Amino acid sequence: MALDGRLGAGLAILVFSLAFPYLYDRYQGFKLILDNAPEKLPNISAFASAEIKFRDEVKNCEDVVMDESRGIAFLSCDPTRDHWDTIMVGSHLPSQMEYNICKAATDELSQGTSRITDPSDAGGIYKFDYASNPNTVVRLPLSNFPDPLDFHPLGITYRAPSSTFFVVNHRSSGPAIEVFSYTDGNTGSLHHVRTLTHPLIHTPNALTALSATSLLITNDHYFSIRKWPFLSTVEAYLALPIGSITHLDISAPDAVSATQLARLPLPNGIAMMNETSLAVASSSRPGVYFYDVHCPSDGKIKLELKRVIKTRFAPDNLRIDAQGRLLVAGHPHPPSVEKAMQWSKRADHSTDAEARPRSPSWVAEWDGGRARDLYVGGEYGFSSTAVRDVGRGVVVVVGLFERGVLVGRE
Ligand SMILES: *[C@@H]1O[C@H](CO)[C@@H](O)[C@H](O)[C@H]1NC(C)=O
Ligand SMILES: *[C@@H]1O[C@H](CO)[C@@H](O)[C@H](O)[C@H]1NC(C)=O
Repeated sequence: MALDGRLGAGLAILVFSLAFPYLYDRYQGFKLILDNAPEKLPNISAFASAEIKFRDEVKNCEDVVMDESRGIAFLSCDPTRDHWDTIMVGSHLPSQMEYNICKAATDELSQGTSRITDPSDAGGIYKFDYASNPNTVVRLPLSNFPDPLDFHPLGITYRAPSSTFFVVNHRSSGPAIEVFSYTDGNTGSLHHVRTLTHPLIHTPNALTALSATSLLITNDHYFSIRKWPFLSTVEAYLALPIGSITHLDISAPDAVSATQLARLPLPNGIAMMNETSLAVASSSRPGVYFYDVHCPSDGKIKLELKRVIKTRFAPDNLRIDAQGRLLVAGHPHPPSVEKAMQWSKRADHSTDAEARPRSPSWVAEWDGGRARDLYVGGEYGFSSTAVRDVGRGVVVVVGLFERGVLVGRE
């Protein structure tokens, strides 16, 4: 008996000490959330001046890329995210539900909101001329696109050499990556080239192009919110390291070859620091993961985790500026984002769109040694991406549930 007792205690200690790093990590995560309650958060702005622009023209922009040579920022915005969200909450737009096997429930919901019919309400890519005076913003017309009313853009990346956009699209029929070729001009336009789908593109969030035919994407969850809402919430709260970084080879014109390279908790933003180093944000275990990128002789990319830098907020998207500094935008208080999303799911959007709970922003930069806060506060909320034009001294911040864009001048 005595032996059994000791064995039991020994096992308990063993289990506890094995679990301790994990528990301690989770404790720190929850402490961060308490410390970052919106009313406790300081207001910080490192900009010489900052202004929220185009409040009436754009909203719910999750991502932004910059073409500094042209002085243009491209915004990926989805006004329908008010009631169409496939990251954390799922959607209640009935015509876009996946569960139509469940006929009765679908019919009942169908009496509520109907599918949008006005293309100006759908998601879109906007061209923001931040270098012109006055600044302008226009929605880019799409050509050759199969279903413009079912365009739900999230992460976006742009390859200047070939003027190609790759855009994560959370379509009603399932996630995809859309490839567009961009033509500049007065208004500019996007010509749809192809749609990429693959079982390993299951919860795509952000992406970056290594070349015209090679992409790295993050799948933020293992359990997609559309199929497994409960498990996907558990996955996020326990910060289970089961989201993925996936490589896509699209050199064949009508096939996608996909390889999973690494797993981590809720991978979100993704950016190449330089030729050999990749940065990926984890939103549920707040920090940035740095990987060395190896290209062995078999041509298959391999990732080797080198270090993790913790952040005091849940990072969303990552961008590198021309001086190699990493810009990290994210959410200091994830429960506020969750609350806003839950509200969106239930709200009557025709009347009370302005009543949605708000969540503050946190934008920081890291130069390889030192971290610096650029913007912390709630005046412009829900920050999801920040980009910088070093030459013109302009930083553009977008917010996934916010109106307009924040433009900081340095
Ligand atoms: C930050 O600014 C907001 C107004 O934008 C204000 O309500 C809030 O109290 C300020 N927070 C602090 C800690 O001063
Ligand atoms: C690439 O970036 C990583 C991470 O910042 C850094 O450690 C490494 O020295 C850089 N490599 C080169 C060749 O600049």
